[in-house]
Amino acid sequence: MKGVILAGGIGSRLHPLTKITNKHLLPVFDRPMIYYPLQMLAAAGIREILIVTGGNSAGDFLRLLENGEEVGCSIRYAYQRGEGGIADALRLARDFAEGDRICVVLGDNIFQDSLLPARQAFENQSRGARLLLKEVSDPERFGVAEIHGGRIVGIVEKPARPASRLAVTGAYFYDETVFEKIARCRPSHRNELEITDVNNMYLAENHLEFSILEGWWTDAGTFDSLLRAQQFVARSRGVHDILGS
Ligand code: DAU
Repeated sequence: MKGVILAGGIGSRLHPLTKITNKHLLPVFDRPMIYYPLQMLAAAGIREILIVTGGNSAGDFLRLLENGEEVGCSIRYAYQRGEGGIADALRLARDFAEGDRICVVLGDNIFQDSLLPARQAFENQSRGARLLLKEVSDPERFGVAEIHGGRIVGIVEKPARPASRLAVTGAYFYDETVFEKIARCRPSHRNELEITDVNNMYLAENHLEFSILEGWWTDAGTFDSLLRAQQFVARSRGVHDILGS
């Protein structure tokens, strides 16, 4: 299985931090954000990785990660023009995937849990996709899955009135039909090709499975969530409450 990390977009919600660099190169405690998805994929044995980046700082990924040897991976790069959405960025991975199954991780998502159990569950699936869901207190910020009878029955992107507290996290397992599905996507009201539309196409075929995460998970695309990411990681490294009381 190959890995794809999506690190395009312009990170406008983190302006001016992202004025002169790419969001995924910002520090999260002791390393640049992009290290987290990379190390998570590598730890799950997924070491052939494509990084899709964009914007003005694309060359900095090469300077930081080179060919990936230092992090135990083989890395290739693709460049997304503009910010046409997550599915638009994933479209660029078609040649890299060469018909293999892929694990896609959003470059601003940080997970405590290992990917291995979900990877193994996906390998036992004959086809389709597998999502990683996590119960959150602010589901309206995410894609939200509605579950009935142990099955996903719908996913809505950033719903005003969420049907559950189960956020669709930024780690996705897809079979080779994902690129044909992206080709059928049309731009959403925010003018992006939405990964939620792709996931709903798998649902319509009845080929959408899920795993639920137990450990902490956060994105890091806003000031609050970037701070939360720093704190989760610091705590996991044994650093607690540096300000004291
Ligand atoms: O964090 C999980 C959430 O990520 C999911 O629950 C949502 O369903 C999914 O749509 C996404 O929501 P966001 O609106 O928070 O995504 P954002 O635009 O912040 O993009 C997340 C990452 O995707 C970003 O760090 C880099 C990559 N990306 C995004 C866009 C828009 C690209 O590579 N290219 C893009 O054009």
